[in-house]
Amino acid sequence: MQQIYPGVYKINGSLATQSAVRGFKVHDEPTMQIQGKEYREWDPFHSKLGAALSRGLREFPFKEGSSVLYLGAANGVTCSFISDIIGKGSIYAVEFSAQSGRDLITVSQKRTNIYPLISDARFPEKYSEDVGQVDVVFEDVADRDQAGILISNCKLMLKRGGIAMLAIKARSIDSTLPPKQIFSKVITELRDDFDLLEKIDLGQFERDHLFLVLRKK
Ligand SMILES: C[S@@+](CC[C@H](N)C(=O)[O-])C[C@H]1O[C@@H](n2cnc3c(N)ncnc32)[C@H](O)[C@@H]1O
Repeated sequence: MQQIYPGVYKINGSLATQSAVRGFKVHDEPTMQIQGKEYREWDPFHSKLGAALSRGLREFPFKEGSSVLYLGAANGVTCSFISDIIGKGSIYAVEFSAQSGRDLITVSQKRTNIYPLISDARFPEKYSEDVGQVDVVFEDVADRDQAGILISNCKLMLKRGGIAMLAIKARSIDSTLPPKQIFSKVITELRDDFDLLEKIDLGQFERDHLFLVLRKK
């Protein structure tokens, strides 16, 4: 077993985190018991952050105590792995689908560092007072205006110098244009507010997705 980032391990070739809630699975992920601790396998095909890690992500901003705003939490799969890593930190998990929101609430009842916000990420002023200022904003929403959503949320809630991560899904923005053209348009839209630190093609894990790591100016 090798620790490759704070709280992230490589075990027999798979990514894993140490389970903060023993015996509680979020999507039937395999678990491993090692020296009295439980580890959960983090499948890159079920998580864009997991995919970015598998594709060699260098900037990893999550650590014990981090505060995180997560946009597009769905049923809480990736949130649960971040929850393992940040321990006493907090994840404010925004999701607007009532059905996914129900699963997210179930996950947050077991994991007390996840605060579910059943809300629309296009209107951050509705939840910004509850969230305050965070270290990291993570966005994975299928919306035409992925850049605008990131900018408006980060303006209100990301600390200056804080890290934003964006999984761009080209087809949600425009299915008629080549993905490369869409990616460069999104990067241009983000230029005034962020420095681009890293970009990763998610390759075989998520077709036509580009993962960006940005620092707020
Ligand atoms: C690809 S899924 C996210 C998967 C999740 N990030 C994970 O790795 O576990 C995208 C989610 O974003 C949600 N979503 C899309 N637009 C949204 C919006 N404007 N506000 C909040 N959630 C949104 C969808 O309902 C969906 O659950």
